[in-house]
Amino acid sequence: MSWKEIYQSKLVTAQEAIRAIHDNDKVVTGFACGEPFGIERALIDNYKNYRNVEIINMLTLGGSPWCKPEMKGHFKLNCLFASQSNRKEISDGTCEFTTSHFYEIPDVIKNYICPRVSIVMVSPPDEHGYVSFGTTVDYTRGTTDYCEVVIAQVNKYMPRTFGNSIKHVRDFTYFVEIDEPLPEVKSVDITDTEMEIGRYCAQLIKDGDCLQLGIGSIPNAVCEQLWDKKDLGLHSELVGDGVVDLLEAGIINNKKKQTNNGRTVLGAALGSEKLNKYIDNNPSVELHPIDYVNNPIEIAKNDNMVSINSCLQVDLLGQVVSDTVGLNQFSAVGGQVDFVRGATMSNGGRSIIAMPSTAKKGLISRIVPLITEGSAVTTPRNDVNYVVTEYGIAQLKGRTLKERAKSLISIAHPKFRPHLVLEYRKRFNEDPFTNEERKEYFGEVKQQLNDVKEHIKDDVLSMLPIEKNSKGEQNG
Ligand code: COA
Repeated sequence: MSWKEIYQSKLVTAQEAIRAIHDNDKVVTGFACGEPFGIERALIDNYKNYRNVEIINMLTLGGSPWCKPEMKGHFKLNCLFASQSNRKEISDGTCEFTTSHFYEIPDVIKNYICPRVSIVMVSPPDEHGYVSFGTTVDYTRGTTDYCEVVIAQVNKYMPRTFGNSIKHVRDFTYFVEIDEPLPEVKSVDITDTEMEIGRYCAQLIKDGDCLQLGIGSIPNAVCEQLWDKKDLGLHSELVGDGVVDLLEAGIINNKKKQTNNGRTVLGAALGSEKLNKYIDNNPSVELHPIDYVNNPIEIAKNDNMVSINSCLQVDLLGQVVSDTVGLNQFSAVGGQVDFVRGATMSNGGRSIIAMPSTAKKGLISRIVPLITEGSAVTTPRNDVNYVVTEYGIAQLKGRTLKERAKSLISIAHPKFRPHLVLEYRKRFNEDPFTNEERKEYFGEVKQQLNDVKEHIKDDVLSMLPIEKNSKGEQNG
Protein backbone atom coordinates (compact mmCIF):
# COMPACT_ATOMS: atom_id res chain seq x y z
CA MET A 1 0.00 0.00 0.00
CA SER A 2 1.19 3.52 -0.70
CA TRP A 3 1.53 5.83 2.28
CA LYS A 4 -1.57 7.69 1.06
CA GLU A 5 -3.62 4.49 1.16
CA ILE A 6 -2.27 3.66 4.62
CA TYR A 7 -3.16 7.16 5.83
CA GLN A 8 -6.68 6.97 4.37
CA SER A 9 -7.26 3.56 5.94
CA LYS A 10 -6.48 5.00 9.38
CA LEU A 11 -8.45 8.22 9.01
CA VAL A 12 -11.41 8.25 11.42
CA THR A 13 -13.49 10.73 13.39
CA ALA A 14 -12.56 11.60 16.96
CA GLN A 15 -15.62 9.68 18.16
CA GLU A 16 -14.41 6.57 16.34
CA ALA A 17 -10.81 6.92 17.51
CA ILE A 18 -11.69 7.16 21.19
CA ARG A 19 -13.45 3.81 21.08
CA ALA A 20 -9.94 2.35 21.26
CA ILE A 21 -9.73 3.66 24.85
CA HIS A 22 -11.04 1.32 27.52
CA ASP A 23 -11.97 1.52 31.18
CA ASN A 24 -8.91 1.51 33.51
CA ASP A 25 -6.61 2.63 30.67
CA LYS A 26 -3.69 4.97 31.13
CA VAL A 27 -3.60 7.53 28.33
CA VAL A 28 -0.64 9.85 27.79
CA THR A 29 -1.27 13.04 25.83
CA GLY A 30 0.99 15.56 24.09
CA PHE A 31 2.67 18.47 25.81
CA ALA A 32 1.81 22.20 25.87
CA CYS A 33 1.41 23.61 22.29
CA GLY A 34 1.08 20.03 21.03
CA GLU A 35 -1.77 18.95 23.30
CA PRO A 36 -4.37 17.22 21.09
CA PHE A 37 -7.37 19.20 22.31
CA GLY A 38 -9.55 18.07 19.41
CA ILE A 39 -9.45 14.44 20.55
CA GLU A 40 -9.47 15.30 24.24
CA ARG A 41 -12.73 17.20 23.72
CA ALA A 42 -14.33 14.05 22.36
CA LEU A 43 -13.27 12.15 25.50
CA ILE A 44 -14.62 14.90 27.75
CA ASP A 45 -17.94 14.98 25.86
CA ASN A 46 -18.27 11.22 26.30
CA TYR A 47 -16.95 10.99 29.85
CA LYS A 48 -19.90 8.94 31.03
CA ASN A 49 -18.76 6.08 28.79
CA TYR A 50 -15.44 5.74 30.64
CA ARG A 51 -14.50 4.45 34.10
CA ASN A 52 -11.24 5.03 35.89
CA VAL A 53 -9.15 6.32 32.98
CA GLU A 54 -5.90 8.07 33.94
CA ILE A 55 -4.77 10.94 31.71
CA ILE A 56 -1.04 11.64 31.86
CA ASN A 57 0.08 15.06 30.67
CA MET A 58 3.08 17.17 31.57
CA LEU A 59 1.88 20.74 31.10
CA THR A 60 -1.42 21.95 29.76
CA LEU A 61 -1.95 25.39 28.28
CA GLY A 62 -5.70 24.77 28.24
CA GLY A 63 -7.90 24.10 31.22
CA SER A 64 -7.82 20.80 33.06
CA PRO A 65 -11.38 19.60 32.40
CA TRP A 66 -10.40 16.17 33.73
CA CYS A 67 -10.43 17.68 37.21
CA LYS A 68 -14.05 18.86 37.16
CA PRO A 69 -16.25 17.26 39.85
CA GLU A 70 -18.41 15.40 37.32
CA MET A 71 -15.28 13.59 36.01
CA LYS A 72 -14.78 11.78 39.31
CA GLY A 73 -14.70 8.02 38.71
CA HIS A 74 -14.42 8.60 34.94
CA PHE A 75 -11.14 10.49 34.37
CA LYS A 76 -8.29 11.47 36.62
CA LEU A 77 -5.40 13.72 35.58
CA ASN A 78 -1.84 12.79 36.52
CA CYS A 79 0.23 15.82 35.59
CA LEU A 80 3.97 16.34 35.67
CA PHE A 81 4.02 20.16 35.74
CA ALA A 82 1.41 22.06 37.74
CA SER A 83 -0.27 25.06 36.15
CA GLN A 84 -2.94 27.63 36.89
CA SER A 85 -5.69 25.20 35.87
CA ASN A 86 -4.78 22.38 38.26
CA ARG A 87 -2.79 23.78 41.24
CA LYS A 88 -5.81 23.89 43.50
CA GLU A 89 -6.85 20.39 42.38
CA ILE A 90 -3.39 19.00 43.15
CA SER A 91 -3.62 20.51 46.62
CA ASP A 92 -7.07 19.09 47.31
CA GLY A 93 -6.19 15.68 45.83
CA THR A 94 -8.51 15.81 42.80
CA CYS A 95 -5.47 15.79 40.51
CA GLU A 96 -2.36 13.62 40.89
CA PHE A 97 1.13 15.02 40.43
CA THR A 98 4.29 13.09 39.49
CA THR A 99 7.68 14.68 40.05
CA SER A 100 10.71 13.98 37.87
CA HIS A 101 13.63 15.70 36.19
CA PHE A 102 12.53 16.44 32.64
CA TYR A 103 15.25 14.33 30.99
CA GLU A 104 13.98 11.29 32.91
CA ILE A 105 10.32 11.82 32.08
CA PRO A 106 10.33 9.66 28.92
CA ASP A 107 11.68 6.77 31.01
CA VAL A 108 9.32 7.51 33.91
CA ILE A 109 6.28 7.48 31.63
CA LYS A 110 7.37 4.44 29.63
CA ASN A 111 8.67 2.20 32.39
CA TYR A 112 6.95 3.35 35.57
CA ILE A 113 3.59 4.84 34.57
CA CYS A 114 3.19 2.49 31.57
CA PRO A 115 0.36 4.02 29.50
CA ARG A 116 -1.41 1.82 26.92
CA VAL A 117 -2.63 4.69 24.74
CA SER A 118 -0.87 7.75 23.35
CA ILE A 119 -2.73 10.74 21.89
CA VAL A 120 -0.60 13.33 20.10
CA MET A 121 -0.88 16.19 17.63
CA VAL A 122 1.06 16.21 14.36
CA SER A 123 1.37 18.12 11.09
CA PRO A 124 -0.25 16.74 7.92
CA PRO A 125 1.95 14.13 6.18
CA ASP A 126 4.63 15.37 3.77
CA GLU A 127 5.10 13.97 0.27
CA HIS A 128 6.96 10.96 1.70
CA GLY A 129 4.29 10.07 4.24
CA TYR A 130 5.98 11.53 7.30
CA VAL A 131 4.10 13.63 9.84
CA SER A 132 5.99 16.00 12.14
CA PHE A 133 5.56 16.47 15.89
CA GLY A 134 6.31 20.12 15.19
CA THR A 135 6.45 22.18 18.38
CA THR A 136 6.33 19.18 20.64
CA VAL A 137 8.87 16.37 20.53
CA ASP A 138 10.05 16.31 24.22
CA TYR A 139 8.48 13.16 25.81
CA THR A 140 5.57 13.22 23.33
CA ARG A 141 7.18 11.59 20.30
CA GLY A 142 8.64 8.75 22.37
CA THR A 143 5.21 7.64 23.64
CA THR A 144 4.26 6.73 20.07
CA ASP A 145 7.13 4.21 19.97
CA TYR A 146 5.79 1.95 22.67
CA CYS A 147 2.08 2.59 23.30
CA GLU A 148 -0.23 -0.13 22.01
CA VAL A 149 -2.67 2.43 20.57
CA VAL A 150 -1.43 5.68 19.01
CA ILE A 151 -4.00 8.29 17.96
CA ALA A 152 -2.88 11.48 16.21
CA GLN A 153 -4.78 14.70 15.70
CA VAL A 154 -3.60 15.95 12.31
CA ASN A 155 -3.60 19.74 12.39
CA LYS A 156 -2.50 21.98 9.52
CA TYR A 157 -1.44 24.62 12.07
CA MET A 158 1.26 22.33 13.47
CA PRO A 159 4.61 23.40 11.97
CA ARG A 160 6.86 20.86 10.30
CA THR A 161 10.15 20.75 12.15
CA PHE A 162 13.52 19.10 11.66
CA GLY A 163 15.55 16.95 14.05
CA ASN A 164 14.13 13.76 15.51
CA SER A 165 10.60 15.00 15.04
CA ILE A 166 9.01 12.93 12.31
CA LYS A 167 7.28 9.61 12.04
CA HIS A 168 5.79 7.63 9.15
CA VAL A 169 2.00 7.29 8.86
CA ARG A 170 2.32 3.52 9.15
CA ASP A 171 3.39 3.91 12.79
CA PHE A 172 0.02 5.26 14.01
CA THR A 173 -3.23 3.48 14.84
CA TYR A 174 -5.65 6.29 13.89
CA PHE A 175 -5.57 9.77 12.41
CA VAL A 176 -8.20 12.40 13.14
CA GLU A 177 -8.09 15.55 11.02
CA ILE A 178 -8.95 18.60 13.12
CA ASP A 179 -7.45 21.96 12.17
CA GLU A 180 -7.34 24.47 14.99
CA PRO A 181 -4.80 27.14 15.99
CA LEU A 182 -2.27 25.88 18.52
CA PRO A 183 -2.41 27.17 22.08
CA GLU A 184 -0.01 30.08 22.40
CA VAL A 185 2.23 31.53 25.07
CA LYS A 186 2.40 35.23 24.28
CA SER A 187 5.22 37.42 25.58
CA VAL A 188 4.15 39.76 28.35
CA ASP A 189 5.58 43.23 28.91
CA ILE A 190 8.97 43.17 30.61
CA THR A 191 9.05 45.13 33.87
CA ASP A 192 11.92 47.41 34.91
CA THR A 193 12.90 44.85 37.56
CA GLU A 194 13.07 42.07 34.99
CA MET A 195 15.06 44.31 32.65
CA GLU A 196 17.58 44.96 35.42
CA ILE A 197 17.83 41.20 36.09
CA GLY A 198 18.35 40.69 32.35
CA ARG A 199 21.20 43.21 32.43
CA TYR A 200 22.98 41.36 35.24
CA CYS A 201 22.50 38.00 33.49
CA ALA A 202 23.91 39.47 30.27
CA GLN A 203 27.04 40.49 32.19
CA LEU A 204 27.63 36.77 32.79
CA ILE A 205 27.20 35.84 29.11
CA LYS A 206 30.17 36.02 26.76
CA ASP A 207 30.47 35.92 22.97
CA GLY A 208 30.37 32.32 21.78
CA ASP A 209 28.42 30.96 24.79
CA CYS A 210 25.75 28.34 24.26
CA LEU A 211 22.54 29.24 26.07
CA GLN A 212 19.63 27.53 27.72
CA LEU A 213 16.83 29.98 28.35
CA GLY A 214 13.71 29.02 30.24
CA ILE A 215 10.40 30.62 29.43
CA GLY A 216 8.72 33.71 30.82
CA SER A 217 9.61 37.32 31.28
CA ILE A 218 13.12 36.87 32.69
CA PRO A 219 14.48 34.89 29.71
CA ASN A 220 12.80 37.42 27.40
CA ALA A 221 14.46 40.25 29.37
CA VAL A 222 17.81 38.45 29.01
CA CYS A 223 17.24 38.23 25.23
CA GLU A 224 16.70 42.00 25.12
CA GLN A 225 20.20 42.45 26.57
CA LEU A 226 22.07 40.24 24.12
CA TRP A 227 22.18 42.52 21.10
CA ASP A 228 25.86 43.38 21.57
CA LYS A 229 26.93 39.69 21.75
CA LYS A 230 28.01 37.50 18.89
CA ASP A 231 28.17 33.85 17.88
CA LEU A 232 25.82 32.62 20.59
CA GLY A 233 24.44 29.10 20.53
CA LEU A 234 21.08 27.77 21.70
CA HIS A 235 20.52 24.34 23.24
CA SER A 236 17.38 24.60 25.34
CA GLU A 237 14.54 22.36 26.48
CA LEU A 238 12.00 25.05 25.61
CA VAL A 239 12.07 28.53 24.18
CA GLY A 240 9.52 31.27 23.80
CA ASP A 241 9.24 34.08 21.26
CA GLY A 242 12.15 36.02 22.83
CA VAL A 243 14.82 34.18 20.81
CA VAL A 244 13.33 34.68 17.35
CA ASP A 245 14.69 38.19 16.69
CA LEU A 246 18.16 37.15 17.90
CA LEU A 247 18.12 34.10 15.63
CA GLU A 248 16.97 36.12 12.65
CA ALA A 249 19.67 38.72 13.30
CA GLY A 250 22.39 36.05 13.52
CA ILE A 251 23.32 36.97 17.11
CA ILE A 252 22.45 33.37 17.85
CA ASN A 253 24.07 31.47 14.99
CA ASN A 254 25.21 28.26 16.73
CA LYS A 255 28.61 28.53 15.00
CA LYS A 256 30.63 27.69 18.10
CA LYS A 257 28.65 24.64 19.19
CA GLN A 258 30.45 21.33 19.59
CA THR A 259 27.27 19.29 18.96
CA ASN A 260 24.56 20.07 16.40
CA ASN A 261 26.86 22.75 15.02
CA GLY A 262 25.02 25.49 13.16
CA ARG A 263 21.69 24.36 14.50
CA THR A 264 19.43 25.36 17.41
CA VAL A 265 18.39 22.37 19.52
CA LEU A 266 15.07 22.32 21.38
CA GLY A 267 12.78 19.82 23.08
CA ALA A 268 9.69 21.96 22.53
CA ALA A 269 8.64 25.38 21.29
CA LEU A 270 6.44 27.28 23.70
CA GLY A 271 5.64 30.57 22.10
CA SER A 272 3.15 32.18 19.77
CA GLU A 273 2.62 32.06 16.03
CA LYS A 274 5.81 34.15 15.70
CA LEU A 275 7.95 31.27 16.99
CA ASN A 276 5.92 28.61 15.19
CA LYS A 277 6.41 30.40 11.86
CA TYR A 278 10.15 30.63 12.53
CA ILE A 279 10.59 26.92 13.23
CA ASP A 280 8.31 25.78 10.40
CA ASN A 281 10.37 24.06 7.68
CA ASN A 282 13.50 25.69 9.09
CA PRO A 283 16.45 23.28 8.83
CA SER A 284 18.50 25.37 11.29
CA VAL A 285 16.19 24.39 14.16
CA GLU A 286 16.10 20.81 15.40
CA LEU A 287 13.63 19.37 17.87
CA HIS A 288 14.73 16.24 19.68
CA PRO A 289 13.37 14.01 22.46
CA ILE A 290 13.96 15.44 25.90
CA ASP A 291 16.08 12.48 27.07
CA TYR A 292 18.61 13.77 24.52
CA VAL A 293 18.14 17.54 24.82
CA ASN A 294 18.09 17.63 28.63
CA ASN A 295 20.53 14.84 29.32
CA PRO A 296 23.23 16.61 31.38
CA ILE A 297 25.92 14.61 29.57
CA GLU A 298 24.67 15.82 26.17
CA ILE A 299 24.29 19.39 27.45
CA ALA A 300 27.87 19.32 28.73
CA LYS A 301 29.22 18.36 25.29
CA ASN A 302 28.87 22.02 24.32
CA ASP A 303 31.56 24.26 25.76
CA ASN A 304 30.60 27.45 27.60
CA MET A 305 27.06 26.29 28.27
CA VAL A 306 25.11 28.91 30.25
CA SER A 307 21.77 27.94 31.82
CA ILE A 308 19.33 30.61 32.97
CA ASN A 309 16.36 29.56 35.07
CA SER A 310 14.06 31.19 37.58
CA CYS A 311 12.88 30.32 41.07
CA LEU A 312 10.53 31.27 43.89
CA GLN A 313 12.82 31.24 46.91
CA VAL A 314 16.49 30.90 47.89
CA ASP A 315 17.62 30.41 51.47
CA LEU A 316 20.83 31.72 52.98
CA LEU A 317 22.56 28.39 52.29
CA GLY A 318 21.78 28.78 48.58
CA GLN A 319 19.07 26.10 48.41
CA VAL A 320 16.75 26.93 45.51
CA VAL A 321 12.99 26.37 45.62
CA SER A 322 11.40 26.70 42.20
CA ASP A 323 8.30 24.57 42.13
CA THR A 324 6.53 24.59 45.49
CA VAL A 325 5.16 27.25 47.79
CA GLY A 326 4.97 25.56 51.17
CA LEU A 327 2.76 22.49 50.84
CA ASN A 328 1.42 23.60 47.47
CA GLN A 329 2.78 22.40 44.15
CA PHE A 330 3.28 25.52 41.99
CA SER A 331 4.98 24.15 38.85
CA ALA A 332 7.65 21.41 38.57
CA VAL A 333 11.39 21.00 38.45
CA GLY A 334 11.19 20.77 34.65
CA GLY A 335 14.69 20.88 33.22
CA GLN A 336 16.15 23.23 35.81
CA VAL A 337 18.46 20.71 37.46
CA ASP A 338 19.24 18.99 34.14
CA PHE A 339 20.62 22.26 32.79
CA VAL A 340 22.24 23.45 36.01
CA ARG A 341 24.19 20.19 36.08
CA GLY A 342 24.87 20.09 32.33
CA ALA A 343 26.15 23.67 32.39
CA THR A 344 28.31 22.90 35.42
CA MET A 345 29.89 19.93 33.64
CA SER A 346 30.43 21.91 30.42
CA ASN A 347 33.91 23.20 29.77
CA GLY A 348 33.69 26.89 30.71
CA GLY A 349 30.01 26.51 31.64
CA ARG A 350 27.98 28.54 34.16
CA SER A 351 24.52 28.25 35.64
CA ILE A 352 22.36 31.20 36.61
CA ILE A 353 19.27 31.25 38.81
CA ALA A 354 17.57 34.59 38.22
CA MET A 355 14.61 35.98 40.14
CA PRO A 356 13.12 39.25 41.33
CA SER A 357 14.23 39.91 44.92
CA THR A 358 10.62 40.01 46.16
CA ALA A 359 7.26 38.41 45.48
CA LYS A 360 3.63 39.29 46.20
CA LYS A 361 3.92 42.91 45.12
CA GLY A 362 7.07 43.43 47.13
CA LEU A 363 5.69 42.18 50.43
CA ILE A 364 7.73 38.97 50.57
CA SER A 365 11.47 38.49 50.20
CA ARG A 366 12.48 35.62 47.93
CA ILE A 367 15.79 35.43 49.78
CA VAL A 368 14.94 33.94 53.15
CA PRO A 369 16.76 32.58 56.21
CA LEU A 370 14.89 29.27 56.01
CA ILE A 371 12.82 27.89 53.17
CA THR A 372 9.08 27.83 53.80
CA GLU A 373 7.97 24.78 55.75
CA GLY A 374 6.60 22.18 53.34
CA SER A 375 8.47 23.48 50.28
CA ALA A 376 10.76 21.09 48.40
CA VAL A 377 14.30 22.02 47.40
CA THR A 378 14.44 22.05 43.60
CA THR A 379 18.12 22.77 43.03
CA PRO A 380 20.36 21.69 45.92
CA ARG A 381 22.86 24.20 47.27
CA ASN A 382 25.82 22.19 46.01
CA ASP A 383 24.65 22.66 42.42
CA VAL A 384 24.08 26.41 42.58
CA ASN A 385 26.52 28.74 40.86
CA TYR A 386 25.21 32.31 40.21
CA VAL A 387 22.06 33.79 41.77
CA VAL A 388 20.89 37.04 40.19
CA THR A 389 18.31 39.58 41.34
CA GLU A 390 17.72 43.19 40.28
CA TYR A 391 20.25 44.10 43.00
CA GLY A 392 23.16 42.16 41.56
CA ILE A 393 24.93 38.84 41.27
CA ALA A 394 25.85 36.37 44.04
CA GLN A 395 28.36 33.70 43.06
CA LEU A 396 28.03 30.75 45.45
CA LYS A 397 30.28 28.02 44.08
CA GLY A 398 33.35 27.43 46.20
CA ARG A 399 32.13 29.88 48.82
CA THR A 400 31.94 29.19 52.55
CA LEU A 401 28.55 29.11 54.24
CA LYS A 402 29.15 32.61 55.60
CA GLU A 403 30.28 33.98 52.24
CA ARG A 404 27.21 32.50 50.55
CA ALA A 405 24.84 33.99 53.09
CA LYS A 406 26.56 37.37 52.96
CA SER A 407 26.48 37.61 49.17
CA LEU A 408 22.83 36.53 49.09
CA ILE A 409 21.93 39.22 51.65
CA SER A 410 23.69 41.75 49.40
CA ILE A 411 21.33 40.99 46.51
CA ALA A 412 18.15 40.83 48.64
CA HIS A 413 15.76 43.77 48.53
CA PRO A 414 17.18 46.40 50.90
CA LYS A 415 14.04 46.48 53.03
CA PHE A 416 14.53 42.80 53.93
CA ARG A 417 18.27 42.96 54.55
CA PRO A 418 18.05 43.91 58.25
CA HIS A 419 15.98 40.81 58.96
CA LEU A 420 18.40 38.64 57.00
CA VAL A 421 21.31 40.18 58.90
CA LEU A 422 19.67 39.23 62.20
CA GLU A 423 19.15 35.69 60.97
CA TYR A 424 22.76 35.55 59.81
CA ARG A 425 23.85 36.56 63.31
CA LYS A 426 21.69 33.83 64.84
CA ARG A 427 23.19 31.22 62.55
CA PHE A 428 26.84 32.27 62.60
CA ASN A 429 27.18 34.23 65.86
CA GLU A 430 28.79 37.17 64.13
CA ASP A 431 27.95 40.21 62.02
CA PRO A 432 28.09 39.67 58.25
CA PHE A 433 28.98 43.26 57.45
CA THR A 434 31.32 45.91 58.73
CA ASN A 435 29.81 48.96 60.43
CA GLU A 436 30.22 50.96 57.24
CA GLU A 437 28.40 48.33 55.16
CA ARG A 438 25.60 48.08 57.73
CA LYS A 439 24.98 51.83 57.69
CA GLU A 440 24.61 51.61 53.95
CA TYR A 441 22.05 48.80 54.15
CA PHE A 442 19.97 50.39 56.93
CA GLY A 443 20.13 53.73 55.12
CA GLU A 444 18.67 52.09 52.01
CA VAL A 445 15.90 50.55 54.12
CA LYS A 446 14.81 53.95 55.42
CA GLN A 447 14.79 55.34 51.90
CA GLN A 448 12.67 52.42 50.70
CA LEU A 449 10.16 53.00 53.50
CA ASN A 450 9.84 56.62 52.50
CA ASP A 451 9.01 55.47 49.00
CA VAL A 452 6.26 52.95 49.80
CA LYS A 453 2.65 53.95 50.02
CA GLU A 454 1.21 54.69 53.46
CA HIS A 455 -1.21 51.75 53.44
CA ILE A 456 1.47 49.12 52.99
CA LYS A 457 4.06 50.81 55.19
CA ASP A 458 2.73 49.03 58.28
CA ASP A 459 2.94 45.67 56.55
CA VAL A 460 6.54 46.30 55.62
CA LEU A 461 7.39 47.63 59.06
CA SER A 462 5.88 44.59 60.71
CA MET A 463 8.27 42.39 58.74
CA LEU A 464 11.34 44.36 59.71
CA PRO A 465 13.17 43.33 62.82
CA ILE A 466 13.10 46.02 65.50
CA GLU A 467 16.52 46.00 67.02
CA LYS A 468 16.89 46.88 70.67
CA ASN A 469 20.11 47.89 72.39
CA SER A 470 21.21 46.53 75.76
CA LYS A 471 19.01 49.10 77.56
CA GLY A 472 15.98 47.85 75.66
CA GLU A 473 15.77 51.04 73.55
CA GLN A 474 14.92 50.86 69.90
CA ASN A 475 17.86 51.45 67.57
CA GLY A 476 17.52 53.94 64.71
N1 COA B 1 6.39 32.83 48.27
C1 COA B 1 5.09 32.99 47.93
N2 COA B 1 4.69 33.32 46.69
C2 COA B 1 5.64 33.51 45.77
C3 COA B 1 7.00 33.37 46.05
C4 COA B 1 7.37 33.02 47.36
N3 COA B 1 8.63 32.87 47.69
N4 COA B 1 7.71 33.62 44.94
C5 COA B 1 6.83 33.92 43.98
N5 COA B 1 5.59 33.86 44.48
C6 COA B 1 4.35 34.16 43.78
C7 COA B 1 4.48 35.42 42.96
O1 COA B 1 4.19 36.60 43.70
C8 COA B 1 3.44 35.18 41.88
O2 COA B 1 2.14 35.35 42.42
P1 COA B 1 1.28 36.67 42.07
O3 COA B 1 1.18 36.62 40.57
O4 COA B 1 0.02 36.43 42.79
O5 COA B 1 2.11 37.81 42.58
C9 COA B 1 3.57 33.68 41.64
O6 COA B 1 4.13 33.12 42.83
C10 COA B 1 4.48 33.36 40.47
O7 COA B 1 5.75 33.95 40.66
P2 COA B 1 6.61 34.44 39.41
O8 COA B 1 7.96 34.74 39.87
O9 COA B 1 5.85 35.48 38.67
O10 COA B 1 6.62 33.11 38.58
P3 COA B 1 7.01 32.89 37.07
O11 COA B 1 5.77 32.74 36.30
O12 COA B 1 8.03 33.87 36.60
O13 COA B 1 7.70 31.47 37.18
C11 COA B 1 8.94 29.78 38.33
C12 COA B 1 8.81 31.26 38.00
C13 COA B 1 10.13 29.60 39.24
C14 COA B 1 7.70 29.26 38.98
C15 COA B 1 9.19 29.02 36.99
O14 COA B 1 10.32 29.54 36.38
C16 COA B 1 9.37 27.54 37.22
O15 COA B 1 8.41 26.83 37.34
N6 COA B 1 10.65 27.05 37.28
C17 COA B 1 10.94 25.65 37.51
C18 COA B 1 11.06 24.90 36.21
C19 COA B 1 12.22 25.34 35.39
O16 COA B 1 13.04 26.14 35.79
N7 COA B 1 12.32 24.77 34.20
C20 COA B 1 13.39 25.06 33.29
C21 COA B 1 13.10 26.17 32.33
S1 COA B 1 11.67 25.98 31.34
